[in-house]
Amino acid sequence: MNNSTKPGEKMKSREEYTNNLSIVNTSGVFINFISELYSMNKTAEKIVHNFNAGPSILPKPVFEEASRSIIDFNNTGLSILEIGHRTQLFQDVIDEAIALIKELMLLDDEHEVLFLHGGASSQFFQMPMNLLHDDAKAAYTDTGVWAAKAIKEAALYGNVDVVCSSKEQNYNHLPKSFHVDPASAYLHLTTNNTIYGTQWQDLSLFYNKGVPLVADMSSDILSRVLDFNRFELIYAGAQKNIGAAGVNLVIVNKKCLGKVYRKIPSMLDYRNHIEAGSLLNTPPVFAIYVCLLTLRWLKSIGGVAEAEKQNYIKAALLYDAIDAHDLFNGTVAKEDRSKMNVCFTMENTDLEKEFLSLCKEEGMIGVKGHRSAGGFRVSLYNAVPYESVVAITDLMNYFAKKNV
Ligand SMILES: Cc1ncc(COP(=O)(O)O)c(C=O)c1O
Repeated sequence: MNNSTKPGEKMKSREEYTNNLSIVNTSGVFINFISELYSMNKTAEKIVHNFNAGPSILPKPVFEEASRSIIDFNNTGLSILEIGHRTQLFQDVIDEAIALIKELMLLDDEHEVLFLHGGASSQFFQMPMNLLHDDAKAAYTDTGVWAAKAIKEAALYGNVDVVCSSKEQNYNHLPKSFHVDPASAYLHLTTNNTIYGTQWQDLSLFYNKGVPLVADMSSDILSRVLDFNRFELIYAGAQKNIGAAGVNLVIVNKKCLGKVYRKIPSMLDYRNHIEAGSLLNTPPVFAIYVCLLTLRWLKSIGGVAEAEKQNYIKAALLYDAIDAHDLFNGTVAKEDRSKMNVCFTMENTDLEKEFLSLCKEEGMIGVKGHRSAGGFRVSLYNAVPYESVVAITDLMNYFAKKNV
């Protein structure tokens, strides 16, 4: 295919290109084919069940609309990949995405919604840079690898008080008995520990500690109803329940900003992003657009409350299968079990390998546990269909009976 116009040749309209270039026509057909496969959750040969921990499955209508918009965004004749971020077209996208976050999370007017670069890992340092004085202290709960990384980065900016840790037990539970110095600048928690499969079920434990709360909600945001206004700051990478990788969501109570005296680089100062409406520089346009589509989908199914209900059912089905057979061992304390990332092992590592290859044969993707935890991890984010959970529990039941 040659899209270039030779010198002196009349510039072709986009429509002419589309009609004349067979490859474009073919790719149109290809897109239809791809979205048909997605809508059936299938490859050409078989059904795929995506249990990836992140980037992970998104709702089928999101894939369909996003693929259409790569070719033609909102009947503009432009791809979403080529629109300017300062156009009204994109302004409408980001405005609606922010409005949907506020609506779905019932945020009050004090809380600002930002879409930023750098993934959740950048928040490990950006947040303390904005909230923690050099001589102040922040309280941190050490409940997994991501929490430990957050602790390490915060220590670059101030004093860190690790108020509890389950590291010695390979993060197999959440330590609930701890004291927080009321003078702490904030208390940081990871609401769901993606790698180990633990999740704080009762956040009231944190609400009465008397210090501002900061939470990494990367792997369970929008999956359950919480009083989000209780948090001074929430951050989350998009690539699980919010949308595509490449952007992270930050929700910040603007009252907590402007209290540290260090110099903050412009791009890292939340106040600048608030003032610029997340358009301080070129934002990840496509990733934010995918967030918008995912948020629209979430609203269409009944919002966070409905997602929570479905997530509860899916997780119960899977944990029941684990508990029903001696072959499988849940790896974390039952009361702390995550509804997003379900982790389990088998005593016999040969059987683990056999089960993994069976999963592969059956089109089950992303079932292998993280290297720090071993065994299996099945992620059950909002977009994972109930049918996929039925499929894996059927396989577990079959495998357990075969290996009694
Ligand atoms: C709880 C949690 N925090 C932080 C991260 C890091 O996110 P990112 O890769 O977007 O920096 C992850 C990644 O999976 C996570 O699960």
